[in-house]
Amino acid sequence: MKKIETIIRPEQFPRLRKKLEEVDINGLTVSEVAGCGQQRGKQALFRGTAYEIKLLPKVKVEMVIESENVDEIIQIIESTCSTNTVGDGKIFVLPIENAIRIRTGESGKEAIV
Ligand SMILES: Nc1ncnc2c1ncn2[C@@H]1O[C@H](COP(=O)(O)OP(=O)(O)OP(=O)(O)O)[C@@H](O)[C@H]1O
Ligand SMILES: [Mg+2]
Repeated sequence: MKKIETIIRPEQFPRLRKKLEEVDINGLTVSEVAGCGQQRGKQALFRGTAYEIKLLPKVKVEMVIESENVDEIIQIIESTCSTNTVGDGKIFVLPIENAIRIRTGESGKEAIV
């Protein structure tokens, strides 16, 4: 299993959600976050304080999926969330040791479907 953690533009989330539903990805966690990427070096004057780092609102989507589905999900995120401009976001892939459905005690693959 792997966890896909993707940080995207908030306005892209509804389309991504729909696409994920179409390929039967139902379990996910969504958070409103703030962040910056490589443009943080851009310095600005802000209320008299120089060089404030700007944090932009983003949405973080986390989903634990079977390893064999990773490439497909990355492809869906890229095609749904790209505007070809800076700030489109990132996709991180993390190893997952185990997953347990609390209600039933099912673990591993059974717990994430
Ligand atoms: N290395 C990182 N670690 C953790 N979060 C990151 C990292 N890089 C980007 N992010 C998160 O992703 C969001 C979007 O990043 P962004 O798309 O601006 O990345 P970038 O590297 O600046 O690429 P681009 O040049 O296309 O803008 C950031 O606001 C931040 O929340
Ligand atoms: Mg950026």
